[in-house]
Amino acid sequence: MSTGDGPARADGTTRPVRRPRGLSRRGLVGGGLAVGGAAAGLAGGFGGGFAAGRASADDASGGSAAPGASAYAFRGAHQAGIVTPAQDRLHFAAFDVTTDSREELVRLLRDWTEAADRMTRGLPAGEGEPDRGPSTLPPTDTGEALDLPASGLTITFGFGPTLFRDARGRDRFGIADRAPASLEPLPHFPGDALEPARSGGDLCVQACADDPQVAVHAVRNLARIGFGTVQVRWSQLGYGRTSATSTSQSTPRNLFGFKDGTANVKAEEGAALAADVWVAAGDDPRAAWLAGGSYLVARRINMNVETWDRQTLGDQEAFIGRTKGTGAPLSGGDEMTPPDFAMPGSHGPIIPVDAHVSVVHPRHNGGVRMLRRGYNFVDGSNALGGLDAGLFFIAFVRDPGTHFVPVQQRMAESDAMMEYLRPTGSAVFAVPPGVGPGEHVGQALFA
Ligand code: HEM
Repeated sequence: MSTGDGPARADGTTRPVRRPRGLSRRGLVGGGLAVGGAAAGLAGGFGGGFAAGRASADDASGGSAAPGASAYAFRGAHQAGIVTPAQDRLHFAAFDVTTDSREELVRLLRDWTEAADRMTRGLPAGEGEPDRGPSTLPPTDTGEALDLPASGLTITFGFGPTLFRDARGRDRFGIADRAPASLEPLPHFPGDALEPARSGGDLCVQACADDPQVAVHAVRNLARIGFGTVQVRWSQLGYGRTSATSTSQSTPRNLFGFKDGTANVKAEEGAALAADVWVAAGDDPRAAWLAGGSYLVARRINMNVETWDRQTLGDQEAFIGRTKGTGAPLSGGDEMTPPDFAMPGSHGPIIPVDAHVSVVHPRHNGGVRMLRRGYNFVDGSNALGGLDAGLFFIAFVRDPGTHFVPVQQRMAESDAMMEYLRPTGSAVFAVPPGVGPGEHVGQALFA
């Protein structure tokens, strides 16, 4: 189904399409949960509603659309949720595959593709409803998002190293010879306090939306559909994006109070995306299926905000290497001015050599960049009465071995900010390319 796809961009992604004000999943099924024969009307209602939405976006640049009415096409050259302007909410889930059957795994990917395609359009996860009377089946959608629009939902799937080989190195689903050479579990970094229950996973689902209910609904329904084939290993809620992934977005702030995402790779930087984010054909002859995809690195990083909040403003800025107010580098200018690492200060360079932006800057890391797409999290409080808070760091890179591990190693060893950080979760996934019409996610891997 490509009815709702927006116009293609040069980078292969699609522009958002919008629905008119107030048109929700529920509206699309004719004012209520479609049951029995009423479900037959679904396809017609959907087609008309969505077409009207497209017209409103194309004609009026979305100016009259209600907040949250954006819809991003699920199918395209690349998966949505990477260069898509970072939405405000995240529900990220890692799954373990519980079946040994390749057929069941492929069926799940097909079912997930269909459900994701529907939910990103603002439709219920499944089509139609079981009969009320004799049927013993549960509803085809859990229901909590029925009155909500698509809310910019994107669903991005990834495959972890353990999908290819189990802990003993056994080929689980006949795909081990296609495992990307760079899809290795991340090494242990200095300062890591990783919890196994928040790390790893055979599959991942990154659901981002402008409404938390919509993101949670997406993960919940995919988990429901996968019952008997997969189970949730861990999941993380995030709010308040900590990056900008498009020049059209303002730079948000992380929980240290600093602007985050200033120097990020942005959707409009076609050359940087090709060089640093998308896996190119020929990068890995064994994993040709991954061309046009990427790698997702996830790190749950606890931030000791209580200790941070007792540091002077000058010290906080020295840890980051930028001013807190405007986000400009300590060497001067405005937020977007490139940092001058050679500019002298009273004790060495004005941007300290152990400041975060100096440690991770491409100039000090062989020129590599990453597309960061993280979120703040606050998961209640800890045993010491502090906040269990931090940054759920997500980066998309062309190769974790060259674009993430060395940078993270350098950060763990020499970044002054590390004193306030405690990484508690870690995972890496290969993110297959976008899904074409009639295909399922990861189809080329299993072909
Ligand atoms: C809680 C953890 C972290 C915090 C609070 C944090 C905060 C920041 C801030 C405030 C900036 C400056 C604004 C910007 O350019 O976006 C920044 C930049 C950056 N961060 Fe982090 N960061 C964290 C973790 C990481 C990790 C784990 C990595 C990768 C290993 C990383 C890589 C980068 C990169 C590559 C830049 C851009 C540097 C440049 O090009 O100037 N950060 N971060």
